[in-house]
Amino acid sequence: MVKPRLLTPGPVAVPERVARAMTRPIIHHRSSEFVELFKGIRADLQYAFQTQQEVCILACSGTGAMEAALCNLLSPRDRVVVVRGGKFGDRWAELCTTFGVDPICIDVEWGRAVDPADVRKAFDHHPDAKGLLVQASETSTGVFHPVRALAQVVHMQPDRLLIVDAISAVAVHELRMDEWGIDALISASQKALSLPPGLGFVALSSLAQAALSRSRLPKYYFDLARVLETQRRNQTPFTPPISLLYGLAESLKMIVEEGIDRRVQRHEVMARVVRGALSAMGLELLVNDSHSFACTAVRVPDGIDGKVVQRRILEDHGIRLAGGQGRLKGKILRMGHLGDLDVLDMIAAISAIETALAALGYPVKLGEGVRAATELNHELGFRGDSA
Ligand SMILES: Cc1ncc(COP(=O)(O)O)c(C=O)c1O
Repeated sequence: MVKPRLLTPGPVAVPERVARAMTRPIIHHRSSEFVELFKGIRADLQYAFQTQQEVCILACSGTGAMEAALCNLLSPRDRVVVVRGGKFGDRWAELCTTFGVDPICIDVEWGRAVDPADVRKAFDHHPDAKGLLVQASETSTGVFHPVRALAQVVHMQPDRLLIVDAISAVAVHELRMDEWGIDALISASQKALSLPPGLGFVALSSLAQAALSRSRLPKYYFDLARVLETQRRNQTPFTPPISLLYGLAESLKMIVEEGIDRRVQRHEVMARVVRGALSAMGLELLVNDSHSFACTAVRVPDGIDGKVVQRRILEDHGIRLAGGQGRLKGKILRMGHLGDLDVLDMIAAISAIETALAALGYPVKLGEGVRAATELNHELGFRGDSA
């Protein structure tokens, strides 16, 4: 028997206390018990999203939350600048064309972060553009785009909107929505919130809330003005997924207990340990700088099939890693390090990767990656709280 370990960049493993919370008996969503549950969730979500704004809770996956942001903030034939540097950047562009919004795409090499100067140039060429659509952490490549610097560029014109898909970045990276000027901050349950898939989130700035009434794209289920108004009464417009909300309340409690700064630090340490270990094994990272703390992408060595490595690691060691998406299919492995994981989980995965690659003929000295990981962990000096 091998112990199954889910180390993909989403969905992630659900902690036992969250799983247990989700087995509580269903209550009615128009009851006073629900109001109490929802009130607590709303407050803790603001903490996890590092904002004073209301965070809209939607019953959908992350793409639904992206769609909700787009169709509530824009109108047909609006022009927007889109950073297209991975599969999820492509998704922004696809959503735009689906809804009749005109995307001005900045194509960024997969594995590189966008240069804010290029965004500025795009706005200079298209002064009528209504805003910028970007990922914080582009999960298909492991890049973190420079959100804070992008916010400065976007807000050189005061009514432009910065719409950020932070699906794999909320509760992983520092993202000071209110202070930096992020207008829509989007996430989903199956990433660092350590829940099953099924909830999407959109937090809106005051500027974005003012834009809601101007938007002329159709929406009904995803009408965020209605969601905001209803949530402020501790209600939801439609029947909510009660079990997921129980889980959310518990996972948010875990985030509050850990503290957001410490949580960001834990994710950074895991990311650095993984990068250091993979490099020590002679492997090439996809990203040179501006790494996401949520996942690391590494190139599969020449002559080895990425799918075969993935299968070997899963069958021999129980560890599920992700492969490449789109044009990176078969060429990279992606290791998730977000949610309820720690450095020892990373070291286990590094050991499995070393062993699998050695079995497939890659000239790695066994223990090299694990040693680098252990040394880095020691050097970084991060200590968990086992209380
Ligand atoms: C950055 C990013 N955007 C969008 C999505 C799409 O989310 P979902 O699959 O939940 O619709 C993902 C999922 O992996 C993601 O990581």
